[in-house]
Amino acid sequence: MNSIILRSANEGDAPAIAALHAASWRDAYADILAPDFLNGEIEADRRMVWTQRLDTPEAGQVVNVACDRSGRLRGFICCYRDADPVWGSLVDNLHVAADARGSGLGEQLLRAAARRLAAHAAGPALHLWVFEANVAGLRFYTRLSGRVVETGRSQIPAAGGKTVLRVHWPDLTQLA
Ligand SMILES: CC(C)(COP(=O)(O)OP(=O)(O)OC[C@H]1O[C@@H](n2cnc3c(N)ncnc32)[C@H](O)[C@@H]1OP(=O)(O)O)[C@@H](O)C(=O)NCCC(=O)NCCS
Repeated sequence: MNSIILRSANEGDAPAIAALHAASWRDAYADILAPDFLNGEIEADRRMVWTQRLDTPEAGQVVNVACDRSGRLRGFICCYRDADPVWGSLVDNLHVAADARGSGLGEQLLRAAARRLAAHAAGPALHLWVFEANVAGLRFYTRLSGRVVETGRSQIPAAGGKTVLRVHWPDLTQLA
């Protein structure tokens, strides 16, 4: 893990983040998102999203990347500071390359983003949505003291309204 560098993302990272995002959804959400989407438009969809996010960032958007020494992207996190008046800042995406999972990188990305959010957030809380079917992802967040506080329906069109769980940390500094 010592050879990993964490830094803020820039416009030039969009293609690599989009590719990792698409590969991670194909792998981790194979039984969650529609096969037509996973086999087809996912790459163009993620490229469009990431080009827009990094070219014209929304207020409060925080995107960090983790790269190895050769510069290859190994993971990323995208958050929005103070996204919700009740539930606080939002982790919108957290993905680690399949061959780098289980060695602490996801935790490192989440804690570093929490520190960055905590430095400027108006409110103390953090939340995210995880698919109920993403058992490993949910285990990761609950191991880091996140608590499931409610259920909802995914807004991702290719998810067909599958159940998502809101995971909440009342105090960002728990993670920072
Ligand atoms: C969830 C994820 C970000 C965690 O990052 P990570 O670097 O693997 O996590 P860490 O090494 O810090 O922690 C390991 C924990 O992650 C969880 N985990 C989730 N998916 C895993 C995987 N494919 N391999 C190993 N661990 C995984 C496990 O619960 C593990 O904890 P455990 O040892 O107590 O079982 C990463 O596994 C990932 O990208 N998964 C696919 C995408 C995803 O589900 N993202 C979250 C969307 S809300």
